[in-house]
Amino acid sequence: MNPRKDLLDIQSLTDEEITFVLENAVPFKDLFRRSVKKVPTLKGRTMLTLFYEPSTRTRSSFEVAASRLSADVTHFDVESSSVVKGESVLDTVETLEAMRVDYIVVRHKQAGIPNLIAKNTAASVINAGDGWHAHPTQALLDGFTLREVFKDTRGARCLIVGDIQHSRVARSTSLLLRRLGMNMAYLAPGSLMPREVPQEVAQFGNWTDALEWKPDVVYLLRVQSERLEEPFFPSAAEYHKNYGLTDARVQILRERGIYLMHPGPVNRGVEITDKGMDYERSLINAQVENGIAVRMSVLYWLRPGA
Ligand code: CP
Repeated sequence: MNPRKDLLDIQSLTDEEITFVLENAVPFKDLFRRSVKKVPTLKGRTMLTLFYEPSTRTRSSFEVAASRLSADVTHFDVESSSVVKGESVLDTVETLEAMRVDYIVVRHKQAGIPNLIAKNTAASVINAGDGWHAHPTQALLDGFTLREVFKDTRGARCLIVGDIQHSRVARSTSLLLRRLGMNMAYLAPGSLMPREVPQEVAQFGNWTDALEWKPDVVYLLRVQSERLEEPFFPSAAEYHKNYGLTDARVQILRERGIYLMHPGPVNRGVEITDKGMDYERSLINAQVENGIAVRMSVLYWLRPGA
């Protein structure tokens, strides 16, 4: 497999590249069971995280992944940098370019910023989420998690529930799971359903119809309040009643053996309850653990200068 320079979205990946990343994540995950969880693969390389938006999971997951591959890790602290004095993204990148880092992992609220940075740096750029557009490593870790559960994902059915319109996770994960042969459906209020949904993705407006579609996996999304300029539903309580995973709906999932996923962070009491968080077929913690293995595999694959 030829290494490529950047990972910016799912669309541009070949089936071969997707398989390569997912298959190579398996031995990296095996490492986690050892007392020494580190290999020298990226010794001498430097990865820089450049997050213009908050993150708990993605940033720390990349940092753990890089350190397990023996790369040096640096965080560019946007809040305390000259960005707050008005420095442009490209001026920041020019400065980072002079530091000759090997990887830049970037998150930005504006779609397309990682692509712009990739064109202006010799470093490998990894998109860690840009606006509503893409979150490719989330999609790859979701695909990896479902391959662990189903072995053969072809024909398995995944229902994505919630704020699909504003979700880069829904876009990237839906694309990736379709590439793995899964059937996809969306459940959302009309105001949070994208205007253009691919023909092969089923659309539902209520849980009763969506559950009749017989999903194997329910994938909850957080309402992206920070991206809503106006209220898209009357109240959080109303949203919870109509679209959230209530305790009664957790019981239905349990009776039907349906798996549960969520990319995090969760809003308890809105899209999920405490009982939902404790559900025995939840894959949420597996998604977090697998995120490290998949990001190790991505860093290994991109290897700048390999
Ligand atoms: N899933 C995800 O992107 O989480 P963070 O926003 O915490 O990185």
